[in-house]
Amino acid sequence: MNKSSKIYVAGHNGLVGSAIIRKLESKGYQNIVKRTSQELDLRKQAAVEYFFENEKPEYVFLAAAKVGGILANAKNPGEFLYDNVMIQTNIIEASKNFGVKKLLFLGSTCIYPKMAPQPLKEEYLLTGELEPTNEPYAIAKITGIKMCKSYNEQYGTNFISVMPTNLYGPNDNFDLKTSHVLPALLRKVHEAKLNNSPYVEVWGTGHPFREFLHVDDMADACVYLMENYSYKEIGEIINIGTGEEISIKDLVDLIVSVVNYRGDIKFDPLKPDGTPRKLTDIQKLNKLNWKSRISLKKGIEETYEWYIREKKYE
Ligand SMILES: NC(=O)c1ccc[n+]([C@@H]2O[C@H](COP(=O)([O-])OP(=O)(O)OC[C@H]3O[C@@H](n4cnc5c(N)ncnc54)[C@H](OP(=O)(O)O)[C@@H]3O)[C@@H](O)[C@H]2O)c1
Repeated sequence: MNKSSKIYVAGHNGLVGSAIIRKLESKGYQNIVKRTSQELDLRKQAAVEYFFENEKPEYVFLAAAKVGGILANAKNPGEFLYDNVMIQTNIIEASKNFGVKKLLFLGSTCIYPKMAPQPLKEEYLLTGELEPTNEPYAIAKITGIKMCKSYNEQYGTNFISVMPTNLYGPNDNFDLKTSHVLPALLRKVHEAKLNNSPYVEVWGTGHPFREFLHVDDMADACVYLMENYSYKEIGEIINIGTGEEISIKDLVDLIVSVVNYRGDIKFDPLKPDGTPRKLTDIQKLNKLNWKSRISLKKGIEETYEWYIREKKYE
């Protein structure tokens, strides 16, 4: 990629897409193409083909997707499967047809089997059953991975697939019906503080372990891989994470201290926990000389400041 290359960031308003835009702009890339879902519904094949034919992007970051937490996935499995398969299929096919030099497909660590050994190595893909609560979403993502791989093999494209761990940061989704665990907890604890609530209820036991990566670190890794490594060097997939894990209980404690909430936390063990442990093995990424830089505490502090500022809370 050079600074005047035409780069299409699909999903530029989202958590990941907006961080990729910030990173590209900060590095001096000047020719970035964006479309909202209102302007271009990526589920519509003819519209996507027309867009690629006219814009002819040279590089594509595929960060558009239908994304959500356990509740949203459980309520809308058909939508999660359909939207994601359509969005990624249309973009990957059009990228092949209109000569895109390199594409980066955003997957997720939910593609790994529920009971895979930890930490999760790239080679564990398709070695066991998936976590049932997000199986349709994971199947869509696995389809995207296999499509990139198959197109590289059949058509000689250079499409890479990255599997980021749980992300958080500015522009995250704080809607309690559809959000992931970290922004949901941040909001719940913040509102409990504002309302002087005596306690906050948290789904599950608090025992599962999770890994969290600041989205600016993740964007840095994506741009780094696009600039420096090809599909042949990366292989089918590559994890992006910190390699460090924290229990949900300890995460809640960290959030409580950042927000400065004085009430109690009540865990509801009748609600689902999801996968017991999810930590990425990041040896492959480390060998390509990339490491995350933003600590979880600093990242949560920054995200909380952003949330208060953007949501116009006191
Ligand atoms: N968040 C995480 O923790 C996480 C972790 C690992 C991997 N990822 C991956 O990163 C990618 C992006 O996730 P995110 O968290 O950034 O999601 P997000 O904040 O919900 O953003 C998704 C973006 O996709 C766009 N989009 C959705 N449906 C569309 C459609 N039909 N047509 C056009 N655009 C559409 C939306 O555009 P508009 O805003 O214009 O509607 C939105 O900007 C996903 O592939 C996800 O699997 C995320």
